[in-house]
Amino acid sequence: MKTLLLLPGDGIGPEVTAEVRRVVAWLADHAGLRLEVAEAAFGGASIDAHGVPLTDAARDAALASDAVLMGAVGGPRWSGVARAIRPEAGLLGLRTAMQVFANLRPVQCFDALIDASTLKPEVVRGLDIMIVRELTGGVYFGQPKGIETLPDGSRRGIDTQVYTTAEIERVARTAFDLARRRGNRVCSAEKSNVMDSGLLWREVVTDLHARDYADVALSHMLADNVAMQLVHNPRQFDVLLTDNLFGDILSDEAGMLSGSIGMLASAALGAPGTPGLYEPIHGSAPDIAGKGVANPLAAIMSLAMALQLSLDEADLAARLVAAVSAALDGGARTRDLGGTIGTREMGDAVIAALAAG
Ligand code: NAD
Ligand code: IPM
Ligand code: MN
Repeated sequence: MKTLLLLPGDGIGPEVTAEVRRVVAWLADHAGLRLEVAEAAFGGASIDAHGVPLTDAARDAALASDAVLMGAVGGPRWSGVARAIRPEAGLLGLRTAMQVFANLRPVQCFDALIDASTLKPEVVRGLDIMIVRELTGGVYFGQPKGIETLPDGSRRGIDTQVYTTAEIERVARTAFDLARRRGNRVCSAEKSNVMDSGLLWREVVTDLHARDYADVALSHMLADNVAMQLVHNPRQFDVLLTDNLFGDILSDEAGMLSGSIGMLASAALGAPGTPGLYEPIHGSAPDIAGKGVANPLAAIMSLAMALQLSLDEADLAARLVAAVSAALDGGARTRDLGGTIGTREMGDAVIAALAAG
């Protein structure tokens, strides 16, 4: 039997993963899903219980699972904790341990949500972008890193952006392979005009393309222009390949194209045969945590990605996406989508649509 490790985490994390659990239970009871679900403390919840955001036991459980699905980590409660053991450090440590270097962040706008977007309907209708974000390198991990005190007593903060040929090439391969199964176009985003790592990025992607992927249409765009083009004409993009930091920022921006950041799921993948890490792209949303109003659809769509990409259940994945779409067609809207229903009611709407479909 396949195994799924749930890491609810902090803030709205436990609220949205509770709905994932209910969907899994429904699929097990009514649609033949055979899946063993385990759970571990993660992030701030793990700091409170064990003193560290990711215990060795939780990391080992993740590595031994077929898929890991997390809610969100972090929040003001842990803002005073040393950086090395902050909730976010637990997430970075998990990504490193799992070696999930390619983060797939699909951006689509469900027809029912065209009016929920802050952009004009004609700009977002039919939108279908796949952001491929490098996830285990770049400025998030480069050394040196830290805050040092200078002789005059002032301080200096340092982060290092660093990429090797191999790191760029493997994530670019993921982007090209995905493009072949979609619109066959890759746009690679960096800042080769000012950054040497960006220049290397462009050269490596160009070389790989010429060598192995000449059939895919490749374009390059400076990342600041991508940020602008995403709100100007987002439908020009098919697969958008980018580094860790730009991918983080551009995917939050792209989230709004789908109506709300509460809609965006993601899959972080490593080498074939290794477990995937599935996460909504949003955070722990401290401003609404504990109120039961968070949108659980990003987490539920992350489950759909896990079913498809790690759990050999592509049919159930498609059925779940169709149920989310039907729930939205039926008018289900959490507050972030301009509605009034709560987290649990949105879960109810998806389960009702599963039952009806
Ligand atoms: P955030 O994504 O938590 O929240 C940004 C805004 O979006 C808030 O107004 C929030 O209410 C809203 N929002 C987010 N998810 C929502 C949902 N599902 N439904 C409705 N509204 C939603 O970003 P932030 O406030 O910058 O970060 C808060 C904490 O989360 C920080 O500690 C940050 O490090 C952490 N964070 C964690 C992850 C993760 O675990 N993957 C991702 C991003 C941020
Ligand atoms: C994300 C988050 C994380 C990131 C943080 C919480 C470490 O913002 O998954 O988008 O920056 O990668
Ligand atoms: Mn982010």
